[in-house]
Amino acid sequence: MLLEGKKGIISGALDENSIAWKVAEKCFENGAKITLTNAPIALRMGKINELADKCSSKVIPADLTSIEDIENLYNESSNLLGDKVDFILHSVGMSPNVRKNKEYGDLNYDWLNKTLDVSAISFHKMMQVAEKKKFLKDWSSVVGLSYIAAQRTFPFYSDMAEAKSLLESITRSYGYRLGKISKTRVNTISQSPTITTAGAGIEGFNAFYNYAEKMSPLGNATAEECANYCIFLFSDLSKKITMQNLFHDGGFSSTGISEDIIDQFS
Ligand SMILES: NC(=O)c1ccc[n+]([C@@H]2O[C@H](COP(=O)([O-])OP(=O)(O)OC[C@H]3O[C@@H](n4cnc5c(N)ncnc54)[C@H](O)[C@@H]3O)[C@@H](O)[C@H]2O)c1
Repeated sequence: MLLEGKKGIISGALDENSIAWKVAEKCFENGAKITLTNAPIALRMGKINELADKCSSKVIPADLTSIEDIENLYNESSNLLGDKVDFILHSVGMSPNVRKNKEYGDLNYDWLNKTLDVSAISFHKMMQVAEKKKFLKDWSSVVGLSYIAAQRTFPFYSDMAEAKSLLESITRSYGYRLGKISKTRVNTISQSPTITTAGAGIEGFNAFYNYAEKMSPLGNATAEECANYCIFLFSDLSKKITMQNLFHDGGFSSTGISEDIIDQFS
């Protein structure tokens, strides 16, 4: 019951494979009261209402690129939860260029703007609206999900790499600001490749998933393990961790080469 008495918002749960789905389940198991949110279009396609029933929660539609939707999300959450929040999960990513197989050398720049807005600037928007509404409690925790393509090149990840770099930069800048204002900590978890709708949309994902599995001494981190890490970051056990990009990848980010990979090339 690490989150007993805590209240929070979980974005990005589409179906049972979503990382956010597992986080919501674990929040509930650990005693938190939560509201769920996703883009209106995703609510029609996904199964989020099933999750809401499981977690005694309510779903509040919000396109997280819209300030008005975020304001409404916080107003409704405040009515339902009866208070400000202790934690927020940003688990949102989408690139029209990746979806439509646009090459990195032939990016559609309107779509690039959309990628950045959905996958990174929405994180800033969530925090800016929270700051203006004084919606975050003292010692609250904000977590976003990132990927190592922010630091190293993974060609198939295309403009999502730019989005993740921006996401991690916003984490530092807003982490400083919210730390001063409300002792709020802001971090990203840089997660292993994980089989989800967003993950599977990336070309060559399966080959890369298997490669990362063999490169990581502990193997790929699963969505459930990522959810456990989120619970730790929402809990009072992580009070002084802030402005960090935290690798949760079974050791992938520190491994040059593994015996498994050498064997495959010998
Ligand atoms: N799957 C992986 O391999 C992996 C690895 C590292 C990081 N991540 C990150 O984890 C996060 C969650 O992705 P996932 O893998 O669980 O996939 P997912 O497809 O289940 O989740 C992505 C979510 O973003 C939502 N979304 C898209 N546009 C939105 C908008 N405008 N407003 C609100 N919500 C919107 C989608 O509806 C969906 O629920 C993303 O940031 C992703 O980049 C994923």
